[in-house]
Amino acid sequence: FKVPTVANEPTKSYGPGSAERAGLQAALKHLRSQVPLDIPCIVNGEEIRTGIMEKQVMPHEHKTVLCNYHNADEALVVKAIDGSLAAKHDWENTPFYDRAAIFLKAADLVATKYRYKIMAATMLGQGKNAWQAEIDSAAELVDFWRFGVKFAEELYAVQPPQNAVATWNRTEYRPLEGFVFAVSPFNFTAIGGNLAGAPVLMGNVCLWKPAPAATYASYVVYEIMREAGLPPGVIQFIPGPAPEVVGQVLKHPEFAALHFTGSTHVFRKLWRDIGNNIEHYKSYPRIVGETGGQNFHIAHKSANVTSVINNTIRAAFEYQGQKCSACSRCYFPDNLWPEIKAGLLKAHTRIHVGGVEDFKNFAGPVINDASFKKVKSYIDWAKDDTDSEIIAGGTYDDSVGYYIQPTIIVTSNPKSRTMMEEIFGPVVTIYVYKASEYEKTLDLVAHSSAYALTGALFSQDRYATILGANMLRHASGNFYINDKCTGAVVGQQPFSGGRASGTNDKAGSAAILSRFVSPRSIKETF
Ligand code: ALA
Repeated sequence: FKVPTVANEPTKSYGPGSAERAGLQAALKHLRSQVPLDIPCIVNGEEIRTGIMEKQVMPHEHKTVLCNYHNADEALVVKAIDGSLAAKHDWENTPFYDRAAIFLKAADLVATKYRYKIMAATMLGQGKNAWQAEIDSAAELVDFWRFGVKFAEELYAVQPPQNAVATWNRTEYRPLEGFVFAVSPFNFTAIGGNLAGAPVLMGNVCLWKPAPAATYASYVVYEIMREAGLPPGVIQFIPGPAPEVVGQVLKHPEFAALHFTGSTHVFRKLWRDIGNNIEHYKSYPRIVGETGGQNFHIAHKSANVTSVINNTIRAAFEYQGQKCSACSRCYFPDNLWPEIKAGLLKAHTRIHVGGVEDFKNFAGPVINDASFKKVKSYIDWAKDDTDSEIIAGGTYDDSVGYYIQPTIIVTSNPKSRTMMEEIFGPVVTIYVYKASEYEKTLDLVAHSSAYALTGALFSQDRYATILGANMLRHASGNFYINDKCTGAVVGQQPFSGGRASGTNDKAGSAAILSRFVSPRSIKETF
């Protein structure tokens, strides 16, 4: 067989009066009529209610509980591991085309039957507006699964190029021995579907711990995979507190891989714990992680100013700067600065901040109280810092939802805290450099950050573009020329970064799938 030809899932526009807007509004209304939902763990296909409860609230109106969910305890995690290992034999012997069919069906279910349901879950649960929910929980999730099937087929097709007389050399891409542990973040519903889905597509079994603040949307993703035919035990859905879940998982001899997206701090801790347990494992675990970012836009003096302005506003403030790829530091040349500044300030006045169900709002809340406090602390720091000036925003209000006004800081210190530390909120800091010092500034951008996830260069001068692309080679895993540093599309820009931003294994590519197989070379002599 051949898997079907794949193409990116087309995005819908949700314009006033459109059928899709009406469909989404109906789904939002329906979800509101059901809250608070009660969300179980799912182990071996059974819904398990442990009674160890946590709440997921709506970030744009945090007094409303979206769901009460049941946390896994240690005994349930052990049961989940045993169950996944019991499910492993049948799953890894299920032919690839049958595994693929489940993911292609799940993608179709998202694209058609459940599109608005999963978007409503993402909007009310994670504070996204309709368009941000569409590109995530509808389009990107579908793309991860459909392109994943295509990339898997490509990977399996990579075979030794040479056979000697009367031999057949071949490579068998076995699943890993043991189970995979997927830990997913709050900010993209699609990422959870990929962190658990990609290893499973390759024949592995997986324990999935979703981010607390994305529990409900993750549960919807899981239910869709089940409806598409995923057998019991192949993915175990276990929300839960890190010490209980992680403690049991990382000490198990059959722990085979970590597939992680989240903070640099947590990833490093998990890596250390894995290192400390290394004697106990049957195999060296694969560690695949996408972590923090402090992503840049740099403009050359030849840049198109309108493009710089529009792309910076979008990259810094869409989804309130809570994309790991969000732009948070900018380097703009002094010859363009007056025009860029005027444009940013004008664009800023047009940004509506507010509830996610109101389609006029460009920006919504940050995810939770801890995030609100953290972002606020950086804004307060900038207010006191003599090198920093807040030229737009700088206010916040958590009386109803966790709202922070999109904030633009200008600094005279290119190593200012807000240019070096990950804030994960709607705050961008700009350093204005002398246009004659482009090369020196490239050097600064290239070497000043601990992170290397995404970055963008704006230039209409080919020589300046080549120089920038070369000097910034290691400054990001995704590099954009005359475009914003967010919005990687599966099948178009495989996504990930290096340094403190992760293992750069490229989500949305055959490369990442290769981390979840253990090839066996077979020589058969006739
Ligand atoms: N993959 C997402 C982006 O590029 C995070 O914005």
